[in-house]
Amino acid sequence: MKILVFTEKPFAPAAVKAIENVINASGNELEVIEMGTRADLLEGVKNANGLIVRSDKIDEAVMEAAPNLKVIVRAGAGYDNIDLAAATKHGICVMNTPGQNSNAVAELVFGMVVMMCRNQYNGKSGSELKGKSLGIYAFGQVGRNVARIAKGFGMSLEALDKFVPDAMMEGEGVKPVHTPEELFSQNQFVSLHIPATPETKNSIGYDLVMKMPEGGVLINTARKEVIDEAGLIKALEERPDLRYVSDIKPDSAEEFEKKFAARVFFTPKKMGAQTAEANFNAGVAAAEQTVAYLKDGWNKYQVNK
Ligand code: 3PG
Repeated sequence: MKILVFTEKPFAPAAVKAIENVINASGNELEVIEMGTRADLLEGVKNANGLIVRSDKIDEAVMEAAPNLKVIVRAGAGYDNIDLAAATKHGICVMNTPGQNSNAVAELVFGMVVMMCRNQYNGKSGSELKGKSLGIYAFGQVGRNVARIAKGFGMSLEALDKFVPDAMMEGEGVKPVHTPEELFSQNQFVSLHIPATPETKNSIGYDLVMKMPEGGVLINTARKEVIDEAGLIKALEERPDLRYVSDIKPDSAEEFEKKFAARVFFTPKKMGAQTAEANFNAGVAAAEQTVAYLKDGWNKYQVNK
């Protein structure tokens, strides 16, 4: 059977080699398209039985072009790029690879925060993280890694996650809170780890950000869609002490940068999971899961019904 790896943003070469080893050992055939166009994707999936992607958009048109496709594995956590309802309609199993790239994303949170607290290294006096409070919005795999690293910086921690019991957070030295209002009003730093869903899209805007204490820094390594950009711009206009860092440019990046200069920072491309280690872990997991599904229907991380 043929497995297509299609990624606009390429994996580290060692990860591609490891994926190749897993797929060759299984007796399946592999095609790798990196930095490909949509036309390349539509051509490549024609005779594919398995498809491995990252944040690449997989809509119904892709599935229609792939009559033999049985499984799509998103090498990573968020699967908002895949049309799950269409996959179910076409009898395709969709899985993610939870936890495989979470440390990489968590490390980038601190890479961006330290840079922002040192004024993007412009020579002016900055500030430290020790003794400051961090609010973690969603306490999944990334949120937990953020908590682990924040403890090393000597930060105090709160987290909000309606799916995680208070006792579990407390066991990790994190104080549970139960509303976004509490999280934003009680923490100078707030780090977002919520998925992009109809419920969360545009949910972080003016009202919440205005609640942040003096010197507030909002950190977004989740998805740009969770931000109400107009509301955030208004808050940054009214509160010159607030700052925003995001792992991916917002739609209104130009306006943000023109109005707020060094108070904002955006990676040009989503970089959270772009490390050799995360590529290797997520890529190999995706290859193993794809092979296992094609062999005997293994579907532990299926995300569509
Ligand atoms: C994820 O959801 O796993 C991260 O956002 C990483 O996305 P990427 O594979 O496109 O870098």
